[in-house]
Amino acid sequence: MTTYTKCNEEAKNVNIVNIRNNRMLNAMIEGEGAAATWFNMENLKKDYPQYFTNFNEFVNKFPTIITDDAVGNPYLKCTYMNYKISTSLPRYLWYAFDIINELTKSNIKNVKIFEIGGGYGILARILLRISKKYNIKIKKYSMVDVDNIVKLQKKYLDYFNFDCETNFINFSELYKNPDMDIDCNLIISSGSLGEIGEVSEDGKNIQNFYIQNFLNKCPNVHLHWSPQGPKTSHTFQSFKSYTKKDIKHLFHAPSGLENALKDKTRETISLFKYKKVS
Ligand SMILES: C[S@@+](CC[C@H](N)C(=O)[O-])C[C@H]1O[C@@H](n2cnc3c(N)ncnc32)[C@H](O)[C@@H]1O
Repeated sequence: MTTYTKCNEEAKNVNIVNIRNNRMLNAMIEGEGAAATWFNMENLKKDYPQYFTNFNEFVNKFPTIITDDAVGNPYLKCTYMNYKISTSLPRYLWYAFDIINELTKSNIKNVKIFEIGGGYGILARILLRISKKYNIKIKKYSMVDVDNIVKLQKKYLDYFNFDCETNFINFSELYKNPDMDIDCNLIISSGSLGEIGEVSEDGKNIQNFYIQNFLNKCPNVHLHWSPQGPKTSHTFQSFKSYTKKDIKHLFHAPSGLENALKDKTRETISLFKYKKVS
């Protein structure tokens, strides 16, 4: 059984009250420890000082960020400036602001998103909550994942009752039907495509399936590539050869971090193994 198969089994019967309180799901589709929380908060402050130098101000502007985050009783929590938050929140905020920033720079005001391997759907939750305030309308949010995980994403996101068309797609259906019309102008993948290539059975084919049928056909792609294992650079090279000029790569390369984290857990390191491509 691959880890994703186990994870898929684990996701079968989760209930919204404790949907984020599952150790295995946390490790596989979300988690990082408190060290990453502080690191990502620093990234947010550095990249978006206008919003994050004072976290209180951000929370005052978006109070639901904290209450939404508590839904499902997150497995890993910490206290940041007197706020109880999940340890992954700053990372998703960082991704969300990278995306909002890119959309604003590209003057894209109406967006139809297709997210591949979105974990719980936390990035979707944040984008759907805050985008309007930055003059971006998310007209549609589609997600694809393995079957029980995509059901879990639906359960999680439906709870918030966002005013947005959603589409939850089972990966095995999509794999059989690569011409399925997803109707999107932005594809997001954070920590999924890179990992699928290494972790899943048949991972390379799956990776190529997404790249050829979807990424190469979409005008905007926001990608955080965090591959694991020895095949990393090979995977990355083959990905580069597939890309078209109009595909955007937004990789973060925190300098010196790989060395600093060398003795930490594999999961923690993988989160930060991004390559910078200009
Ligand atoms: C490490 S998690 C990343 C989750 C989230 N994007 C994040 O940044 O925390 C990898 C995600 O890829 C999903 N996944 C695994 N196989 C997949 C497949 N064939 N198609 C789409 N998603 C898949 C997993 O279920 C999980 O949601």
